[in-house]
Formats: sequence, C-alpha cells, structure tokens
Amino acid sequence: MHAIGIDIGGTKIAGAVVDELGVIVREERVPTDASSPALIEDAVVGMVQRLQQGPEQIVGVGVAAAGFIDAAQSTVYYAPNINWRHEPFREKLERRLDIPVLIENDANAAGWAEFRFGAGRLVSDMVILTIGTGVGGAIVSNDRLFRGGFGAGAEIGHMRVVPGGLPCGCGAHGCIEQYGSGRALQRMANEFADAGGIGQALADVRARNGGVLSGSDISALIMAGDPGALAALRQLGDWLGQACASLGAILDPQVFVFGGGVAQAGELLLEPIRLAYLENLPARGFHPEPEFTIAELVNDAGVVGAADLARLHAASL
Ligand code: BGC
Ligand code: NA
Ligand code: ZN
Repeated sequence: MHAIGIDIGGTKIAGAVVDELGVIVREERVPTDASSPALIEDAVVGMVQRLQQGPEQIVGVGVAAAGFIDAAQSTVYYAPNINWRHEPFREKLERRLDIPVLIENDANAAGWAEFRFGAGRLVSDMVILTIGTGVGGAIVSNDRLFRGGFGAGAEIGHMRVVPGGLPCGCGAHGCIEQYGSGRALQRMANEFADAGGIGQALADVRARNGGVLSGSDISALIMAGDPGALAALRQLGDWLGQACASLGAILDPQVFVFGGGVAQAGELLLEPIRLAYLENLPARGFHPEPEFTIAELVNDAGVVGAADLARLHAASL
C-alpha cells in the first residue's frame, strides 16, 4: 500500500508517492506562492492528480502544512507565515480529489518520519525542532505523536523565551521562533555585519548583493569558517539550547533532532546547542544526557511522514 505525502513549505511544495517503508517512489517540487491559499490549493490538487497516475495503489494523501491544525486534522486554524486563517483545507481538497486527505502540521510530519525511519527510530521519546523560516516542533512521547487536546499542540516555535521580546507572526512576543529560526539567523548575521570587526565578510557580501544577506550567503560563509557567520550561528544555537533545557525538563526525551535548512550546518549548530542545554538544564549533573542530532531524512522528512500518517490513518478506517 502506498500513500502520497505533500509538504507545503514557505518556498516550495514537494509531493511524493511513498511506500510503507518510507521509501519515495516518485517525487516532484513546485515553487510556493505563500500569499495565496487558492494558488496553494490548485498546486496541491495538480500535484496529487499527477502523482496518482502511476501503477501504485494509493490509499490516501497526507498534507503537511506550516500551521496550527485542528483535532480533526482538517482545518488550519492559523499559519504565522502563510496566509491561512481558519482554512478548511481538507474539505476543499477532498471536494476536488477522489481520495481521502489528512492535514498534518509540517513539523509533526517531519518528526514522525524521523521517529519511524530516521534519527529517532531507536527511541520511544524524541523532540524535533525544524529550523527554517519558522521554528517547527514535534513531540513523540511513549512511541506516540503528541497532538494535544485541540490538535494544535507541539507548537514549540511559539514557546516564550524572552518576556516582552520581539513580536512574532503568531501575535505573541518573545517566541523562540524569533531567536532560533532561519530568519532569526539572518537578523543576527545582519547585526554582526552592522558592527564591523568579525562581521566584515558578512558586510562585504551584503554590499555586493544589494544590501541583502540571503540564507544561502550566510550558509556559504558558515561553511567557509567565517568568524562573523559562525558567531551568528552560535548565538542561534545558544537560544535553541536554552529552549531545549526547558523542553527537557517537561518532556525528558532521549533524543533532540534538528531539521530544516539551517540544520545543514550540522555539528557547528549542535555544539552551541549542547553547551547551552547543559548550562541551563534543571538538575544538571544529575540528569541523563539526551543525544542531540541532525535529522536524517533532510528535505524528504515532511513528505515521508505525511504519507506514512495518511497510510496508517487509511488502515485504521
Ligand atoms: C508554525 C508551525 C510550523 C513551523 C515550521 C511555525 O511558525 O506555527 O505550525 O510547524 O512554523 O514551519
Ligand atoms: Na508541531
Ligand atoms: Zn510566536
């Protein structure tokens, strides 16, 4: 039995036919127009119809979306970085498709894929943080994906780390999303560029690119060992590690997994996270140390997890 997984990100929509071992049979990607729910809907419908053309028997479609999802896994209550407000997404898609659809939070889908087939496959309890445009979260506790009472739990990106801090797309202030996301890294890198000194290379690249420091420029400098870019990454990791210390006290996972584009920095990101975690951990020195690791399914986690959840759901009907 196969299922289709769709992953709607801030920049691209990915779709794949996935088998029961989490292996992708076919995949495609199109750019996202995040401003228009109607265009996103059209893109998803077209993609599902094309992916359905193959010889596989497809039992359902799982759609990973970057927002707060209801308990029925059907409506996006709110999305901080896409223009969805009480969006009855499942109903809209099922009206146009001849197959059951399930809406899942994007980070939950990625976390589920890592738990089943990736970095969390050997443990019962894991937390994933996806570090992209936003900060996504998923919690697997006692082998089960945690959803909360209204479906929208595990919105770890909106955990407050700074009272009265920076305004967030969710309407609150001081969320970890504003200190630990790809966008936060861009802000920090710009601050280093403004300050000169170790930020000089960042400032030079910014000046060459019309005053803008893109994510890929920052990654390139990180990989080249530039001290300013590395300092910005350490700042990001420090915030994330502090957040993990609080999460560890509540959830006590055996492993923290980091996904999303920024996690491609690998050990360079994990090192400051571990340090800050240990510095801030309640019961420090008396608590077993969890593992901190990078997601294994990288760009495919969302589609693989969404498809697996859709397949499990179809099997339970
Ligand atoms: C959203 C989450 C999403 C995360 C990553 C956050 O801003 O609230 O629902 O999982 O971004 O895309
Ligand atoms: Na989540
Ligand atoms: Zn927030």
